[in-house]
Amino acid sequence: MPLKSFYPNSPDIIITENQPLKQFSTLGTGGTAEYFAQPETISQLQELIISARNMPVYVIGGGSNIIIPDGLIHGLAISTRRLDAVSWQNESSAEIESGHNLSHLVKILREKNIGGLEFSAGIPGTIGGAVSGNAGAGGRGICEFIECVKAVDISGRLVTLRRGEFDYGYRMCSISGVIIASVIMSFTDCPAWNESLYSDFMSRRKSQPLRFRSAGCTFKNPPGNSAGKLLDECGCKGLTFGGASVSDMHANFIINSGHATSSDVLGLAEKCAHRVYECTGIKLELEIKTLSPCFSV
Ligand code: EPU
Repeated sequence: MPLKSFYPNSPDIIITENQPLKQFSTLGTGGTAEYFAQPETISQLQELIISARNMPVYVIGGGSNIIIPDGLIHGLAISTRRLDAVSWQNESSAEIESGHNLSHLVKILREKNIGGLEFSAGIPGTIGGAVSGNAGAGGRGICEFIECVKAVDISGRLVTLRRGEFDYGYRMCSISGVIIASVIMSFTDCPAWNESLYSDFMSRRKSQPLRFRSAGCTFKNPPGNSAGKLLDECGCKGLTFGGASVSDMHANFIINSGHATSSDVLGLAEKCAHRVYECTGIKLELEIKTLSPCFSV
């Protein structure tokens, strides 16, 4: 499809063709998007959706929890990284665009002496990605703080989902079929910032292979158990598949040793899940998600 007919009216939005997406994933694997754009405002995001007629639309946030499929990805891939404005509505409530970096938000809250999100210490990625998977640690999740979500639907309209109009739980949020554009977070009932709690969550990261390319924890923790511990006990550390290997440091991390494909990573995850099932009868569920269309416009 010629670009001219795809996006005739907005010279401000740059659309690239055949864009490699590896660089938009912390794992560093995956193929090429037929079309790619990085909107800088919510209205640009809406315009893109309105223009992308008949195309699958994919959204990439911080790329820290996703596997981008190998090969050509037909349709439009949108990175939200430039959609990152924050506006404080009052001392305890802010509207944060979906591409804003979660670590940066945590830094602002620390400076403002607003507690509550200490558990987010060191979690990579964007606010939009964090909300869509209810990122968290220690039984807490970011969705606890969301008052309302503004999202772009398949027709390009901006819709508002208020607290109570969506569900969330451990590493899940029910919002789907729309693109999260911004969230309003409320810190009204939050205590003061707790530095020792923050340091405690930060130090838990010392057991993780953060110097290597990965998509974070591969599997969710099964109820009452630890995926990392189960994988370790079943001898998964050091297993490989193509260019992917299970970290020797933390068994729930799959590392791209330099030349891995996304199929290698998924193949290795399957091998590990199979081994844990054979060994314990427990079925591990993937935490990392394969990039799939939000919708076909
Ligand atoms: N363990 C092992 N061997 C391993 C890894 C872990 O025996 O190879 C043991 C640990 O010794 C510990 C237990 O398993 O007793 C739990 O491990 P850990 O403390 O590392 O926590 P986790 O449950 O593996 C969770 C989150 C992490 C988050 C940390 C720290 C999940 C799936 N993982 O890890 O989140 O960073 O707590 O708060 O919920 C992520 O979401 O990408 C992620 C890494």
